[in-house]
Amino acid sequence: MSARTEAEHQLINDDVVAYLSAHERKSMLRFITCGSVDDGKSTLIGRLLYDSKLLYDDQMSALESDTKKHGTQGEKIDFALLVDGLAAEREQGITIDVAYRFFSTAKRKFIVADTPGHEQYTRNMATGASTADLAIILVDARKGLLTQTYRHSYIASLLGIRHVVIAINKMDLVDYAQTTFDKIEADYRKFAKDLGFESITCIPVSALEGVNITTKSRETPWFKGAALLPYLETISVRGDLADKPFRMPVQWVNRPNLDFRGFSGTVASGTIKPGEEIVVLPSAKRSTVQSIVTMDGELDEAQPDRAVTITLEDEIDISRGDVICAGKAPAEQSDQFAAHLLWMSEEKLFPGRQYLLKTANRIVPVTVTELKHKINVNTLEHMSGKTLELNEVGFCNFNLATPIAFDAYNENRRTGSFILIDRRTNATIGAGMIDFSLRRAKNVHWQDLDVNKTERASAKNQKPVVLWFTGLSGSGKSTVANLVEKRLHDLGRHTYTLDGDNVRHGLNKDLGFTDADRVENIRRVGEAARLMADAGLITLVSFISPFQSERRMARELLPEGEFIEVYISTPLAVCEQRDVKGLYARARRGEIKNFTGIDSAYEAPERAELDLNTAEISAEVAATKIVDYLEANGYLKG
Ligand code: ADX
Repeated sequence: MSARTEAEHQLINDDVVAYLSAHERKSMLRFITCGSVDDGKSTLIGRLLYDSKLLYDDQMSALESDTKKHGTQGEKIDFALLVDGLAAEREQGITIDVAYRFFSTAKRKFIVADTPGHEQYTRNMATGASTADLAIILVDARKGLLTQTYRHSYIASLLGIRHVVIAINKMDLVDYAQTTFDKIEADYRKFAKDLGFESITCIPVSALEGVNITTKSRETPWFKGAALLPYLETISVRGDLADKPFRMPVQWVNRPNLDFRGFSGTVASGTIKPGEEIVVLPSAKRSTVQSIVTMDGELDEAQPDRAVTITLEDEIDISRGDVICAGKAPAEQSDQFAAHLLWMSEEKLFPGRQYLLKTANRIVPVTVTELKHKINVNTLEHMSGKTLELNEVGFCNFNLATPIAFDAYNENRRTGSFILIDRRTNATIGAGMIDFSLRRAKNVHWQDLDVNKTERASAKNQKPVVLWFTGLSGSGKSTVANLVEKRLHDLGRHTYTLDGDNVRHGLNKDLGFTDADRVENIRRVGEAARLMADAGLITLVSFISPFQSERRMARELLPEGEFIEVYISTPLAVCEQRDVKGLYARARRGEIKNFTGIDSAYEAPERAELDLNTAEISAEVAATKIVDYLEANGYLKG
């Protein structure tokens, strides 16, 4: 049956402009389909597209011939081939594993996000779900609810979807038995009661046979609800972006000449009119909208997704990355918040490691200060844990280097979400949904002390600097650091050495040698080194410090030039042969786990100021080179 009516065809023929404008005014429903290939997901989507007669003719003929070649359904058209074929084409790009398909009926326009169903694709599902109004979750009538049904439901709810359709599929294989349908429906409602869905609608279907897809079918006389497509055409989904408070991140300040100053961006949510009051974050300055300028002239009102340039009544300072908000309902602003985090990387999350947090308008360094609990996405249980692995979800506290403007995700999906980026690889490694602000940034100030770093350093007649020694156990870090400290001391310098073995007896005695503990070990030592430099000391730090991320974080805690990375690059074979503490032998025998260089990684520095190999030069020569470097670069003047 065609979803495009005779009247519509007539209108297209008679008045294409009228047809197009009617089409423009139709509402849009965005939905996601979840389920694995075996559940008949591709068949269902293919069926919706086919039955609404929106396949292009060439796609149709390709489909018919493909079906003859590879089809698994005898003479019937194999709809799964259509969807999977499109997916394969698109996947050559590899960047996104979500296929968005557009179709429309006389009543509504649809965008369907189709994502692979396997567990490792949770992140793809999250991508598709983040903009969807509704999720169709497929359940195989023969199998009932499966682990993946729970997982998909949880991710849908986490990503803010408020309406679900449980399409109980393959009803033909259970003889359209009402008892089977009723049991699955009851099970699902029981499971989903705490997920916060506004509506749960169960529909018995056979995607393959086209039962209850576009029209109610004879096979299920006991079913009182609507068929799938009519249901999708009529469901009302509230929570439209236009109803939220106005938010527009500023993409650039538009200043073509001295007489014009506008702020350009795309409206993220809400609407705005000339004459309305706005507040700009982070400055919290207020003004009134003078005009809304676009390529097509001035607007009386700007809607979400509209690219506009706003001019204001007052001259206030606004820069790229600021957020213009409704005066009556500004966004929150904080450098600490709690959020749910979906981890998308093969490499685990380490609380304490610095990542980049990216919102619509800003990129800010961030650390997870605490993983409060993990959520088992298959059972919804809360579990304790120190780290998140690929596809796991955790509830975490975040600490940002600078405050950002945001909303809670359940208030505004656009301004309440963020992604995390790995600083080293630039890969997207997590997606976050903000729950609430933990503390207003303004509450905590730096205490200004009368005696400051400059005064402390000049009293000692020296320039503070951190000499950061990194390298394998047994490479000679501590030996060389010790020699350097003696020479500096003899030169009358004020020094202090932080050494791994020593600090691990006190400040860091609660930490072991897992990757997560090492991240925290180095984070604390980096902070301690910063304080010592602030005290005006020349500080020597001698830790394996195996990860680039934490060494970089330690470097960035200090002003340019106050951090000197000394890579003691003695090769593993030499360190192992020396084996001063006998630890390598024990690690080889398996008595010590996670030993650096044996079964735990060491990431060599890429831009160390000094690279010294004690297999080639003696510790004394290495120490001389370091002191020479300090002298040559002006660190020992004064
Ligand atoms: S780091 O990796 O977190 O920077 P750190 O420098 O504090 O390590 O401590 C390294 C010292 O701890 C080594 O020199 C060695 O004496 C001892 N040690 C004990 N177990 C291990 C291990 N599994 N890996 C590395 N060093 C270990």
